[in-house]
Amino acid sequence: MERIYFDNAATTPPAPEVVEAMLLALKNDFGNPSSIHAEGRKSRALIEKARKFIANKLNASIGEIFFTSGGTESNNLAIKHSVKNLGVTRIISSRLEHHCGLHSIDAIQKSDNIIVEYVENDAHGKINLEQLESLLKDDSNKTLVSLMHANNEIGTMIDLDAVSALCKQYGAYFHSDTVQTICHYPIDLQKTKLHFLSGAGHKFHGPKGVGFIYINSDIKVDPLIDGGSQERNMRGGTENLYGIVGLEKAFELAYAHMDEWSEHILSLKNYFKEELKKYFDGIVFNGCEENSLYTVLSVSFLKIQNQRCFC
Ligand SMILES: Cc1ncc(COP(=O)(O)O)c(C=O)c1O
Repeated sequence: MERIYFDNAATTPPAPEVVEAMLLALKNDFGNPSSIHAEGRKSRALIEKARKFIANKLNASIGEIFFTSGGTESNNLAIKHSVKNLGVTRIISSRLEHHCGLHSIDAIQKSDNIIVEYVENDAHGKINLEQLESLLKDDSNKTLVSLMHANNEIGTMIDLDAVSALCKQYGAYFHSDTVQTICHYPIDLQKTKLHFLSGAGHKFHGPKGVGFIYINSDIKVDPLIDGGSQERNMRGGTENLYGIVGLEKAFELAYAHMDEWSEHILSLKNYFKEELKKYFDGIVFNGCEENSLYTVLSVSFLKIQNQRCFC
């Protein structure tokens, strides 16, 4: 029986072009990017080409993109560094964030005794923007708002521009976990102002274990990892060259096919919904109908659940 993979929010299979680009680099480019000889400089050039490509697509500066091991690391860094380096004494977030965001907030709350407030969400996962505004209005603490662009389980999206505007109005820092939306939706960082943004290659047919953090050039934070001078002194350790090459290729493919793929995936999602409705009674689609990832379909089978409860 043919298996159909339905877990792309957890991870996507790497695209063949990504595998090919990585294999080519594995075969031909072994130089340490920090070495000044030809082999090293060739590897360095690959990393900087990837950084430039990603920065261009996001309309950011090259110096604002730092490669990391993925979404978890990027979210940890944004949340913890804003407290350690930017004088943040209050974080506003949501209970619906990914565990890596929630656990980072818990950890920094314990170690640095900061205030943490959670903005309410409705049954569809929609954030209460009025409450966010009144929280921002009411407090004089230096605040970080950390809200994911889209939830990985129910697909509900926030209005990134609206949250960004509120943060600007009340002088708060803004971090968004865009792990589920990077390369699925265009993001223009000149139009939508954020201080930190997190991305992970494996959510858009790139390799696992590589991602990036965007840090707005207006803010300065300490090195993300102490060590050598890699990532412009911000993240010590020999770079994940092959991962970065794969990440760039996945970005390239995603941007080249964004309209075509989103249309196709949305049509599959709609078809799947209609078919499920035909075959199951008591079916409920979770999340916010009008503001949902086209890549995520979350369904509750109420009758099946009930049957299970009683047997
Ligand atoms: C919304 C969201 N944030 C963060 C992560 C963590 O990313 P990574 O697996 O690259 O550490 C994930 C992946 O599961 C995710 O879906």
